[in-house]
Amino acid sequence: MKTHPAAPISVAFIGAGRIGLMHLTNLSRMPGVRVVEVVDAHLAAAQQGAAIVDAPRASTNPLGAINAADVDVVLIATPTATHPELIAAAITAGKPVWCEKPVALSLADAATVRDLAAQHNVPVMIGYMRRFDERYAQLKRRIDAGELGAIERFRAVSIDAAPPSLAFIKTSGGICIDMLIHDFDLALHLVGPIVAVHSWGSVLVDPGFYDADDVDTVMVMLKFANGALGVVEGGRRTTWGYDIRTEVSGALARAFVAAPGAMPSDGDGAPALVPDQSFANRFVDAYVSELAYFFRCLREQTTPKPDIADAMASLRVARAATESLRTGTVVTLELD
Ligand SMILES: NC(=O)c1ccc[n+]([C@@H]2O[C@H](COP(=O)([O-])OP(=O)(O)OC[C@H]3O[C@@H](n4cnc5c(N)ncnc54)[C@H](O)[C@@H]3O)[C@@H](O)[C@H]2O)c1
Repeated sequence: MKTHPAAPISVAFIGAGRIGLMHLTNLSRMPGVRVVEVVDAHLAAAQQGAAIVDAPRASTNPLGAINAADVDVVLIATPTATHPELIAAAITAGKPVWCEKPVALSLADAATVRDLAAQHNVPVMIGYMRRFDERYAQLKRRIDAGELGAIERFRAVSIDAAPPSLAFIKTSGGICIDMLIHDFDLALHLVGPIVAVHSWGSVLVDPGFYDADDVDTVMVMLKFANGALGVVEGGRRTTWGYDIRTEVSGALARAFVAAPGAMPSDGDGAPALVPDQSFANRFVDAYVSELAYFFRCLREQTTPKPDIADAMASLRVARAATESLRTGTVVTLELD
């Protein structure tokens, strides 16, 4: 990408839905970035998004936007099944891409765009924003500095305050691919490669999850290549807010990231904390930081991470966890 260092980076933004509108709000305040076109399958959504960033164009034509002469970079926040095709179109046009997680529903589609990006030498970053949350970044620094010693255990909880729509659930790939993939990405990022997965799932929140061939309550056991063990607890409804917690323990110490508002009350009369209600408030700063980092990498011509290979690693674990839900058996994973 060749732009004058002082010139704003010109962006086409595709997918103005639940998360896309939030990213557009963040982009509206981001220096050095100008959204010139917002695209959505529904023109009214594209127009709503364009109004947020004061973009000159709103359309229903992703390929037109990707190939527009005044577009330097493509950002994608459409449903997961559409990611590979849109990423491929942007790569073919030679335009760097940031795309929401997961990169694809299938590993074959993910591999296709990974190879295309390598062939065209186009940077593609996938949006695992938790890595950019300051508390997770600090945990990573502590682990890398050896403060926890050799890692022995990984524990994570990811439970939505309320489920997304059943229409979304049906296209999401299921709870492991849509939601727990964030925890699998962190497990890989913080601890290392995973060699075996075993899942249990139930439908306890809404019978509609049966119809979507999904579960709303899940536990996934992980075995890491270094022998450490992990457990990820997932769900689609709490009565105590959006509950995201991660704990890593090693030979020397234990460390955890938790939103205090999400912890159940201890009933001792302590003042009530207002819990986070969704990813949008819990990770508000992380979403800004990940996009600011992406644009910084483009300006400095460094490679943004997590890239497609990183996203394939967490997708591989998520697919194994989904397979284990169906078969009830342990699924082993080959190391690269
Ligand atoms: N990182 C996170 O925390 C996080 C949170 C939520 C969603 N997501 C991811 O973001 C993506 C979108 O999720 P969402 O909840 O915003 O979904 P959504 O259904 O609310 O929004 C998707 C939007 O894309 C539009 N769309 C669909 N196909 C399109 C196409 N081919 N071209 C242009 N527009 C199209 C739809 O009309 C809709 O407005 C998913 O991949 C999801 O996994 C990530």
